[in-house]
Amino acid sequence: MKFDGQMLASIAKAKQIAVFTGAGVSQESGIPTFRDALTGLWENFAAEDLATKRAFVQNPELVWGWYEWRRSRVLQAQPNQAHLAIAALEAFVPSVTVITQNVDDLHERAGSMDVIHLHGSLHHPRCIQCGKPHTLETGISDGPDGGRHIPPPLCTHCEGRVRPGVVWFGEDLPINEWGRAQRLARACDVLFCIGTSSIVMPAASIPRIARENRACVIQINPTPTSHDHQASYVLRGTACEVLSELRETMGW
Ligand code: OAD
Repeated sequence: MKFDGQMLASIAKAKQIAVFTGAGVSQESGIPTFRDALTGLWENFAAEDLATKRAFVQNPELVWGWYEWRRSRVLQAQPNQAHLAIAALEAFVPSVTVITQNVDDLHERAGSMDVIHLHGSLHHPRCIQCGKPHTLETGISDGPDGGRHIPPPLCTHCEGRVRPGVVWFGEDLPINEWGRAQRLARACDVLFCIGTSSIVMPAASIPRIARENRACVIQINPTPTSHDHQASYVLRGTACEVLSELRETMGW
């Protein structure tokens, strides 16, 4: 893959880089994305059947079981070459922050030190009543029918049900994380936008905010997205292919 010299120069002289990621960055670790037609996480359900507070209240065992199934896949997965390249960037650039829509911990496990989770995390559930964080056991208990229906644990403080620590449809983004992500998008010199369909707002407005503040926006995706026009550069390929070649070219 041949990289534009001006793009390479923008990365080399950047003082602050933001890396905005979506499910595509974890796809090569074996984690299905949301909207891949064949393997998508929504394959057997519609989002509103699972990723809403109402769905959890109506059917806590189904919703908790689905998230535990996703958590078990993440626990069995390993960070891929894209996660590792993003983490390696920190030794090359004074300030690198990952702003992720993902709820897995693969960026952290690859070594990224500053990760903002706009949509929460599978690993940080909390009580739906009192909000107290809940510590999960390390293993995943299969529910009665192989993980589909698992009764959520009860809060050790108030005995309320423990809910997944993710942002559900209709819920606001965590205010501190969202505020910091916008500030970073306004301040960064370069924003990588990797593996996202840029459909779900407000998270998907991050690349536009960066571009409006004169950042160099680099889109990495094997397929076109409706937001390609907001990018300074579009690198057509998977996250692992493109970031491995970019890392080799620039000596990260
Ligand atoms: P999507 O499934 O909507 O989009 C995944 C994107 O990754 C697509 O544009 C794919 O083309 C691309 N892709 C697939 N494989 C890739 C690879 N190997 N390398 C690079 N890109 C690849 O997932 P997101 O954009 O992350 O929100 O979805 C955003 C939000 O929608 C999620 O955070 C979730 C979902 O509803 C909440 O749960 C609140």
